[in-house]
Amino acid sequence: MAEVDSRPAAAKVDIKPIISERLSKASARPRVAFRPDEHLAYREDPKVLTLKDIGLSEDVGISPVAVSEPFPLFTEEATNIMRSEVFTQEVWDNCLWSTDFAGCMLRGTCPKYAPFMNEAWKDPKTLALLSKVAGIDLIPVLDLDVGSINVSVQDSSENQQKLENQSENDIPVTKWHVDSYPFVCVVMMSDASQMTGGETAIRTGSGEIIKVRGPQMGSAVVLQGRYISHQALAAAGGAERITMIAAFRPRDPFVSDTSVLTSIRPISHPSELYFQWTEYRVEVLQERLRIMLEVLRKEHVLGHPTDVAKIKEFLNQQAQWLLDTNTEIVAK
Ligand SMILES: [Fe+2]
Repeated sequence: MAEVDSRPAAAKVDIKPIISERLSKASARPRVAFRPDEHLAYREDPKVLTLKDIGLSEDVGISPVAVSEPFPLFTEEATNIMRSEVFTQEVWDNCLWSTDFAGCMLRGTCPKYAPFMNEAWKDPKTLALLSKVAGIDLIPVLDLDVGSINVSVQDSSENQQKLENQSENDIPVTKWHVDSYPFVCVVMMSDASQMTGGETAIRTGSGEIIKVRGPQMGSAVVLQGRYISHQALAAAGGAERITMIAAFRPRDPFVSDTSVLTSIRPISHPSELYFQWTEYRVEVLQERLRIMLEVLRKEHVLGHPTDVAKIKEFLNQQAQWLLDTNTEIVAK
């Protein structure tokens, strides 16, 4: 989810091979409920690189964790159910976006078109696992960014050739960027066993570039993408490469949250985006005000003096929160 120049979707998207032949009618599919004990494949904690490991100061982010190694998250069955939810005519008619950054994206499928995927990302067990990997309690930011799908159907021979020719120089598929949201989780939705490349390149504090290998089908990588400069590298060797990305923010309303909509605005319908954005921002503010008032009243009842400087600081922070919230809403 990076800085992008977009163009309205469907008509200009010329990628619909292979997969288009398999598009089914959503109504033809039996509804399956997400069952964490059956559909989660997580077994043990993956290795992680911390901010410190990559030479960054711990206070640049909201957690000490920079990025995880790939780890099994969803079972093959669960991954296939999610695929079947997004490869329907309804989704391709209503959720397809194309930008220079990503030629073929399916966005806004949750919860309407992809109820299983929606449940999977919001299940308390899934969130607990991701939070454990991320080193901070996380929840999804917006429904629009629960389970966005990036599809690339590549000329694998061409990419393979390029990769072979450029053993020293990887082929970037995105520019260097930071994400719009604090954390992202990227899940591989294709059989990646024959793929080469597909890593995420990360810039360390000293300017050195390190690469984190890409996940296999059903596996995930967690990245604190808002605070770490990164770029996706091309993969070769697979007929299709489909990844699912979910965006997260801290559950605790008092933890810093610098989410923006820079890269989201061009790939979202304004009505839906600004409803979800406003709802989330106001909910966080409501929760902060509720807790603050509770503390204030308690202190008052106990006969303690009111901490005026602290109130002013708190109110200034909330004024800034509203200002930032409003700035991200760009009326046409
Ligand atoms: Fe990114």
